[in-house]
Amino acid sequence: MNLSYILNELGEERENYFQAIAPPIVQTSNYAFKTVEDLRRAFEDEMSDYLYSRGIHPTLDILRKKLAALDDAEECLVFNSGAAAIFAAVLAFVKSGDHIVSVRNPYTWAQRMFDNILPRFGITTTYIDGSQIQHWQNALQPNTVFFYLESPNSWNYSIQPVSEVAGLAKENNIITLLDNSYCTPLYQQPLSFGIDLAMQTATKYISGHSDTLGGILCGSRRLLKKIFDTEYLAIGSGIQPFNAWLLIRGLRTLPLRLQRIFHTTKQVIRFLKQHPKVEKILFPLDESFPHYRLATQQMKDAGGLFTFVLKTPRRDDIVRFCESLQHILMAVSWGGHESLILPKCAAIPPHEFDSSREEHRYIRMYVGLEEADYLIRDLENALEKI
Ligand SMILES: Cc1ncc(COP(=O)(O)O)c(C=O)c1O
Repeated sequence: MNLSYILNELGEERENYFQAIAPPIVQTSNYAFKTVEDLRRAFEDEMSDYLYSRGIHPTLDILRKKLAALDDAEECLVFNSGAAAIFAAVLAFVKSGDHIVSVRNPYTWAQRMFDNILPRFGITTTYIDGSQIQHWQNALQPNTVFFYLESPNSWNYSIQPVSEVAGLAKENNIITLLDNSYCTPLYQQPLSFGIDLAMQTATKYISGHSDTLGGILCGSRRLLKKIFDTEYLAIGSGIQPFNAWLLIRGLRTLPLRLQRIFHTTKQVIRFLKQHPKVEKILFPLDESFPHYRLATQQMKDAGGLFTFVLKTPRRDDIVRFCESLQHILMAVSWGGHESLILPKCAAIPPHEFDSSREEHRYIRMYVGLEEADYLIRDLENALEKI
């Protein structure tokens, strides 16, 4: 992958806009045509033309070229959020009566789509522990049309044997999507394992500054054209020029940010692992992690997001720890410049908190761009409070 070329030059035709270094935000809703024939051609293949900004527009085109190249894909579509990308991709390949196999505990709004929206159209989903190919095989039904993967998962980091799952899917004419938000294509390339659709929330690492949302699908031209011609245009969730521009800007520093974040994460994990009040760390590239070997085979590196469990069984202690942090912010999302903490118990009514269920005690941490010592001191002080 020629990263320097992709991030600095690919798609940027500076002679068309005054040799400006930063590309323009082409903020228009529609485009004018000189001839009826040109307009007819745009109607015929809106994906290859500029007609109306619900479809493709010039700022987005620069972004699509870069993102497709990063995933070594023929084609890329960018949506207004990761959730929109997931919804469009799944909707494009299912019909009433179909069946989906998904990893257990996928991203929340993917799960809500499977549980609350698709059943209204007679589409069912089976959730599995996706770490063994046998589980995918066992879940197959004659009407299975879609495999949904998230490797690693963004709370428990479980990993799927991606090549094997993609191979099984191919044998059975099943479309595969892998949520690759955790690694980005810099550290894992789903299409190289035979996956059909590589998905990412661009809100996280691609944006990198917690100031915009976006969602990415990369794959073959045939599949993405099918999504574009129906769901992308019909739902109208394509990314708009300013947000596309922010994502281009985010891409410029993606490798640097990831290197720094991954390095700092390992220092923070080292600190937490030796701390007497910490029971456990969940991180795919930690040797104690159950899927460590598979993770090292599939991923070049990882960092940023990990989960830890305090020794205390008490919800009050988890609350006190989180509320004692002075610099690490308590918030959803991840992938930006700022370090974050997210206690699972915040999503559970207090009377339902059950300390015997380990996941109720999960605290997810995202390591941003701060100095490692700064974060470690903050964690150390908060741990002293419990
Ligand atoms: C792993 C993962 N996939 C998908 C999404 C959805 O992305 P967005 O928030 O951009 O809709 C998220 C958001 O948190 C996520 O963490």
